[in-house]
Amino acid sequence: MSGKAKYPKIVVTPPGPKARELVREDESYISKSMVRWYPLAAESGSGCIVKDVDGNEFIDFNSGLGVLNVGHCHPKVVSAITEQAKKLIHYSYTDFYYRSIVDLSRELTKITPGSFSKTVFFCNSGAEAVEAAMKMAKWHTRNNLFLAYTGSFHGRTLGAVSLTGSKPVQRRHFFPLVPGVTHVSYPYCYRCPFHLSYPECHLWCADFIEEEVLGKYVPPENVAAMFVEAVQGEGGYVVPPEDYFARLKKILDKHDIIMIDDEVQSGIGRTGKWFAIEHFNIVPDAVCVAKAIGSGLPIGALISKSELQDWEGGSHASTFGGNPVACAAGVAVIDVIREERLLENATKQGAHLMTRLKEMQRKYPIIGDVRGKGLMAGAEIVKDPEEKQPNPEMVEEILIKCFKRGLAIITAGKSTMRFAPPLIITRELLDSGLDVFEGVVKEVAGSGK
Ligand SMILES: Cc1ncc(COP(=O)(O)O)c(C=O)c1O
Repeated sequence: MSGKAKYPKIVVTPPGPKARELVREDESYISKSMVRWYPLAAESGSGCIVKDVDGNEFIDFNSGLGVLNVGHCHPKVVSAITEQAKKLIHYSYTDFYYRSIVDLSRELTKITPGSFSKTVFFCNSGAEAVEAAMKMAKWHTRNNLFLAYTGSFHGRTLGAVSLTGSKPVQRRHFFPLVPGVTHVSYPYCYRCPFHLSYPECHLWCADFIEEEVLGKYVPPENVAAMFVEAVQGEGGYVVPPEDYFARLKKILDKHDIIMIDDEVQSGIGRTGKWFAIEHFNIVPDAVCVAKAIGSGLPIGALISKSELQDWEGGSHASTFGGNPVACAAGVAVIDVIREERLLENATKQGAHLMTRLKEMQRKYPIIGDVRGKGLMAGAEIVKDPEEKQPNPEMVEEILIKCFKRGLAIITAGKSTMRFAPPLIITRELLDSGLDVFEGVVKEVAGSGK
């Protein structure tokens, strides 16, 4: 690419001395359940750049796990947080009233799909939004069964992890979970569980749910809801065929099953639309959000058709849910996405990202599949393009090498590199990050074509 890029900037090979010291201290306190990708010890962040404690500046291709869609410390978000913090930091919405929660509710009901009347429940995280959705569906329908996908990720609390189906470690030794969840195959065409090909398959994976699951062993009249990720996140950045969700929604509607769309990772503009489900032209009955809405402050929300939240007062609540400061951040995030036309930028930069990843796929046989929507893209690394075995060892090597060269990137599924930079990313910075990635891929692949 053109000349020497300004970023990334490596002043000492990471982890430098200060990062190593921080990691040593951290290890003596922090729970062993945390598995860090590599020793990136963040000191500050601005836009798409994270600076570590030794002064290295990394291009952030993971947006702090899909949270920093408007970039690190966006000035308008910082200002909204500061102003709100000066006025009112907390006054639980479970019991009292305040302005910022109403403002955020109004904006969330505007941007979520569907022109029906909507109601918002606030909590503090993605898992809590999913828990709220589970409880809402149970209360409303008086049913106890759920459908969810293999490969899905809905969070770690006991209810949410009962739906989660992406890695055994997330469930090992935690049984019994919430009973009544049946997992069905996600439409993962690159690794079709039925060994079929789209479109000749005629979406058998959707019809299977009706014919085999609901038709044979899960009585549909006992199902409270089905949880879907419109683009599967932790499971590998998997994008279903474009007509899949329409077929599914028809099946669910026929059996009066609520569709709950978990947009915790794919939402708030990441895919070039406010919500990834909009790419599939259907309207879910409820949407779960968290991550990007608070730009780093903890907040989650369930936005549903009003009639679904007919639960009685006191059925469910959260002391910190919809905290005034987090809500002010949320309003600012939505404003910034609108003002800076970030949906358009995500679409534009996402198209460039896809073009470059596809070019790399043609050059390097270790890249088995490339897929995505907007700035939510995955490149699946395999041992052999014909056999398609996942290659987690190579992915580990790629991650570390990228880190050493100033690119913060992580993986999803067994061996998919995930590309999820902030929506504010410029073409230049995107290319700089992709140049680092390509340089590493070239090296680990041995050679290109
Ligand atoms: C789709 C999805 N749902 C739920 C969650 C859980 O969110 P949290 O970690 O905020 O509980 C995640 C987290 O990655 C997610 O990707």
